[in-house]
Amino acid sequence: MSRTSLSAIPPYVFYELDERRAAARARGQQLIDVGIGSPDGPIPAVVVEAMQRAAADRALSGYPYFQAHPAYRDAVAAYLHARFGVTIDPARHMHALAGSKEGIAELILAHTNPGDVVLVPEVYYPVYARATLLAGAEPVFMPFLPDGRLDLEALDAARVARATVMIVNYPGNPTTTSVTVDELARYVAFAERHGILLLSDLAYSELSFDGFAVPSVLQVPGADRVAVETHTCSKSFNMAGVRAAFVVGNAEAIARLDMYRSNIGYGVSTLSQVAGAAAFTHHADIVPPIVAEYRVRRDAIVAAFNAGGWSVQAPRATMYLWLDVPEGFGDWEWVDTLIERTGVVVTPGIAFGEAGRGKFRISLVQESAKLVGAANGIVGAARR
Ligand SMILES: Cc1ncc(COP(=O)(O)O)c(C=O)c1O
Repeated sequence: MSRTSLSAIPPYVFYELDERRAAARARGQQLIDVGIGSPDGPIPAVVVEAMQRAAADRALSGYPYFQAHPAYRDAVAAYLHARFGVTIDPARHMHALAGSKEGIAELILAHTNPGDVVLVPEVYYPVYARATLLAGAEPVFMPFLPDGRLDLEALDAARVARATVMIVNYPGNPTTTSVTVDELARYVAFAERHGILLLSDLAYSELSFDGFAVPSVLQVPGADRVAVETHTCSKSFNMAGVRAAFVVGNAEAIARLDMYRSNIGYGVSTLSQVAGAAAFTHHADIVPPIVAEYRVRRDAIVAAFNAGGWSVQAPRATMYLWLDVPEGFGDWEWVDTLIERTGVVVTPGIAFGEAGRGKFRISLVQESAKLVGAANGIVGAARR
């Protein structure tokens, strides 16, 4: 059998974390859960109202459009123009997704054969490597330079020659690193030179601070010759449960995805597409208060760590802190110590690949006072 079987895929670290969390709760422990990256804020009212209207609309009760509902297409095209100055023909360049996680998996599955290579950042959101293994392809990890850019020079030429997809994720989960449009242009040029589809995962497009506007790969002139980019409502609009996302870019890749998806299912739920249309249409009103809340949380927890003698930089983007495991602790040992002594649940860096060893991630998904409590507990646990 040439395909990698499901059983050959290593266990999901997040499941192990779930088990530890459940065991602590069963012992009666109160937890401060900053392990998971699921936004705790409400779905915006304008989105709830749009979904309510859509649910009651007889015209929307049938199967959804395969590619995208026209209202969602139009809202996405207007958003991309307003936010990034990018003009697209949504009929050819855009596809609705039921979340970017499964969209990324589908894009990988639609563009790889067994034996192909997918280039994945060495610290990565797990689906990049897992969908690659499901496809029977090989994930090859791209090392980071000290500033978080990818070290393309370090890649093995023979493996690059077998690559069909290359994934970049800026701002990165869990690294929080951002890059400029010039750096994205370097990845576009590399992908074009080697005939690889460049997949930019832009899950954190709106969660940035201090006047920094996250760039899109489509701002690189000619990027749609070789690139696609996934966007999602999950983080920007507190809509992780709605499963509304889209992919935009290279028309051929969109057509391949459409072929893949239409053979195994229907289009994305019309309710989710209507919700996505409302969110992207009203992005300029919805995003600022959400970002303001994350900024307050970020500043509070960073100040608490620094007051405790740690040296923590405030990230410019995302909803995470990516920190060093204190000396003398193994990765799981540190996670378990925190749960047992402080009730704080964090994610070990190895959840994001071997190169994440020695780090841990905190999600800013609790209000400031709890985050400060978590930071104080962590600082104390490291001293003992
Ligand atoms: C980098 C990155 N990409 C994609 C996703 C998936 O988001 P969704 O499937 O909710 O759109 C996440 C979620 O945490 C993420 O961190």
